[in-house]
Formats: sequence, structure tokens, C-alpha cells
Amino acid sequence: MPTEIKIFDTTLRDGEQSPGCSMNLQEKLEIARQLERMRVDVIEAGFAVASPGDFAAVKAVAETVKNSVVASLSRALPKDIDHSWEAVKHAVSPRIHTFIASSPIHMQYKLRMEPEKVLEQAVEMVAYAKKYCSDVEFSAEDASRSEPEFLYRLFEGVIRAGATVVNVPDTVGYSTPWEISELIAEIRNHVPNIDKAEIAIHCHNDLGMAVANTLAAYRAGATQLECTINGIGERAGNAALEEIVMALETRRDFFDAAHSLDTTQIYRSSRLVSSLTGVQVQPNKAVVGANAFAHEAGIHQHGVLANKSTYEIMTPASIGLTSNRMVLGKHSGRHAFEDRLNAMGYHLDKMKLDEAFEQFKELADKKKLVEDEDIEALVQQKAVDIPESFQLQRFVVNSGNSITATAAVRVTQNGRDIEAVSTGDGPVDAGLNAVDKLVGMDFDLEDYVLRSVTKGKDAQGEVSVKIHKDGRRYSGRGLSTDVVEASIQAYLNAINKMLYERRDYEEETFDA
Ligand code: KIV
Ligand code: ZN
Repeated sequence: MPTEIKIFDTTLRDGEQSPGCSMNLQEKLEIARQLERMRVDVIEAGFAVASPGDFAAVKAVAETVKNSVVASLSRALPKDIDHSWEAVKHAVSPRIHTFIASSPIHMQYKLRMEPEKVLEQAVEMVAYAKKYCSDVEFSAEDASRSEPEFLYRLFEGVIRAGATVVNVPDTVGYSTPWEISELIAEIRNHVPNIDKAEIAIHCHNDLGMAVANTLAAYRAGATQLECTINGIGERAGNAALEEIVMALETRRDFFDAAHSLDTTQIYRSSRLVSSLTGVQVQPNKAVVGANAFAHEAGIHQHGVLANKSTYEIMTPASIGLTSNRMVLGKHSGRHAFEDRLNAMGYHLDKMKLDEAFEQFKELADKKKLVEDEDIEALVQQKAVDIPESFQLQRFVVNSGNSITATAAVRVTQNGRDIEAVSTGDGPVDAGLNAVDKLVGMDFDLEDYVLRSVTKGKDAQGEVSVKIHKDGRRYSGRGLSTDVVEASIQAYLNAINKMLYERRDYEEETFDA
């Protein structure tokens, strides 16, 4: 009998904690919808007590997602647990996740608490959470560097207090597959009531072993595997969902695991997270990198043409990477467009569909072949629309290798058209400088990435930017067959997000 496992995705919590990966509410909701579509078992939606923005996002995810458990992280403190419960209580399947550090180094220097006090607080807080929610996960932070004997007592205590899942985080990515495997086996041997809880594994990638450690833990008896899309997360990131699942899938013969994930949603999830966070996937990244299925060497190409299994251990189609092309052109009707969207798994409301169709028509005018990736990029942007304080109307640039670039940019702000002209070191710099003048602020541009959505000279360019203002980072995205336009759009998108977030949350903090 295959072993049933659960996939616990923490892209919205641990993933979002990584530098430059912060997302607004709409973006988190869109990712949550995609995780549900991919049939992830548990979605950790955030750390509700961290800020009003985090609270609102966890709550919105809890109220939207129906088919996955929705969890909120909390320190082992009543205030954190209260906020988590308030945020997830309307979920169909809510979970409170609480944690406290259990390693000597964390207890002594971070918590400044004696081990016995840590144990007492953990047990008390699990019991406290249990009053709210039947599903309570407990994590022993830095478990892999904890004294095993202490860990066994801690787990025994929290299980007795009602924990339904006990998590073993390799918080600093220090462990090896052999050690983690032994630790899980020993937990199973030494925690007398371990059969009353599920064992989870949560690995960080500081030494590049997060996925290997997760799989080793599974082989030793962990059945909830914690991970993030594209492996984003603190420092070197978390174990990558797509690598864990495709390893289990491709090596069924070895792992014999049963999971409920729809692997054909993996590629789309990866693209969505990458475009919403602005964090690019390295080309040689396993499973979802641009080169993961590219066979460059002649000898490989020859083999693959003769028989795919010579060099291909999994198919692109198994992760949803198809070469399907939209056969619609500029004369295609709305119905055909909607049918194609539905076939791709997108269901837009009437207003968004109308807008997307308009944009599709404009694109079909400029581009000969509109491919699924084009439609996907367009629809993803629609799904995370925020109010546009500044809306691009038009721009003109004058540039060349022997003149100073100038740009005139016109935007609408509160129904009023305003225009500014600026020079710059090239057309993009000139365009962004003109936007700074319009907005009346200066921003640090921390990151700028341009990628083409598809192949071909007439491809759409997708620009991702990160701007920095008053200690906070905002990402923005723009899409156009004209890269200067995509750049201005991305910059304005980041500015609009900043204004939107400031308006909602500037004054409030929970003092976490
Ligand atoms: O890495 C870690 O220890 C964590 C816990 C809070 C689960 O993310
Ligand atoms: Zn973590």
C-alpha cells in the first residue's frame, strides 16, 4: 500500500518572509487560489499577528479557499494564537500552527528561557489553541539542533495537549539526509503517543539539501511535507514543492507515496509566484527552470528524437508545460476566447473578462501568434489588479546612441491628466525619471528584470521591478510588446501598490 502524504505549502508565510518576496492581499489570494487548484493539502496563509496586512490576507485566504486546510502561524503566545484563530475561523478547514524554539542555542540566546519553561509554555499554548480549533500543529523550531531527549518530551507533552501534527523544522538548513532520517525514526521510537499525531518535516536549504532532507524524512516516517513554490523562503529558501512532488512522482517505484497534488498545475504555479514576487527562477532549476526540458547537446537531441526516455525522466506535460498555442487571432470572437481561458483553468467575472478580451484584441493586432503564455501573463495581471492611483495614458520617447534620451509621460491621476518630461541615460531611465516627476517622489530602483513571455521578435516583454521607499520594498510588473512601455507600467504598478498599501495599513501595527 502506498503511504499517504500531505503537501503543506508555506509560500505565503515562510516564502513571503524572504527578502524581496512580499506580496499584497490580492497577490496572496491569487496564489492561494492557484494552490487550491493544484490541490495542495494545507496552505499556510501567513503569520496573522505580524501586521494588519498579514491578518487581512490570512482572513481573506481562509474565507476564499474551500478545499485545502488554511493555517496561520503563531508564536506560543496567547495574543498570537488569538489573532490566528480570528483570521482562520471562517475557513472550511482551519488550523492553528504554533511554534517555540527547542534547541539549546535558541532557548538560551533567543528566548532566554530554561528548557522546562519552554516545555511548559508549549504544552499550555497547544491546549490554549485547542480550545479554539481541533486542528493544531506544533513546531519545535530548530528541532534538528535540539537535544533529542528534550524533543521527545516536548512532542509527547504537546500531543497530550491535543497537537494533531508535530513538525520537525531544520530551521537553519544544517542537517543531512542521514541525520534527519535517524531523527524521525528516533522520534517514532521514543515518543510514546506519536501514533496520535502526524509527523511533519520542514527543511531550509542553506546547504542545498532541503529537498533531499525532506525526502529522507518521508522515508523515515514523516507524512506531512512542508515546502514552497520555487523553493522561495528565508535565506537560501525552503524545500521546493515541485522538486519534492516530482521526485515522489517520477520515482514512485522507490518512494511509493500517494499524494493528491495535480502535478499539471506545477508550471503555472511556478510562473505565478515568480511573476508576482518578481523573483526569477534560475534557468537550470530542477523541474521548472527554463532549461529543465531543453536538450541542447546534439547527442541528447538525437536520443530524445529516437525515444524520449533516453534522456527525459518526466514529461513536460506532467508539470503542465504544453506546447498548445492559442489558435485565435484578431478576428476571433469572445466565446472562443472565453472557451480557451476556461480550458486553461481561468474563470473570470464578466468585467474582468471584458477587459481581458479587449487586451487580447490589442495584442492580437500587434502579434501574429497569441500563445497560451501570453494569455496567462495577461490574465494573471488582471487577477491581481489594484486601484491605479496613476494610470499610464501615453508616452513618447526620443532616444539613440548619439543623443540624450528624453521621455514625455502622461498619466491620469484622480481623473486629471498630468504630464512630465525628463531626460535619462537611455529611454527606460528617461521614462522612469518622468514618472518620478509626476509622482513627486524619488524611488530607489533595486531590481529590474526584463524577460520575453514567448519566443519571437514580436514577443511581449514582461518587466519586473522592485522599488524601495522608506525602508519598504514594492514589486511591480508590466507587460507589453514595447519594452519601454512595459518598464513604465511596471514602475507605475509598484508605485500604485505602495500607495494602496500605505492607505490601508500605514497607521496600524499590532506590535507583534
Ligand atoms: O523554519 C522554521 O523553523 C519555521 C517554523 C516557524 C515552522 O519556519
Ligand atoms: Zn521555516
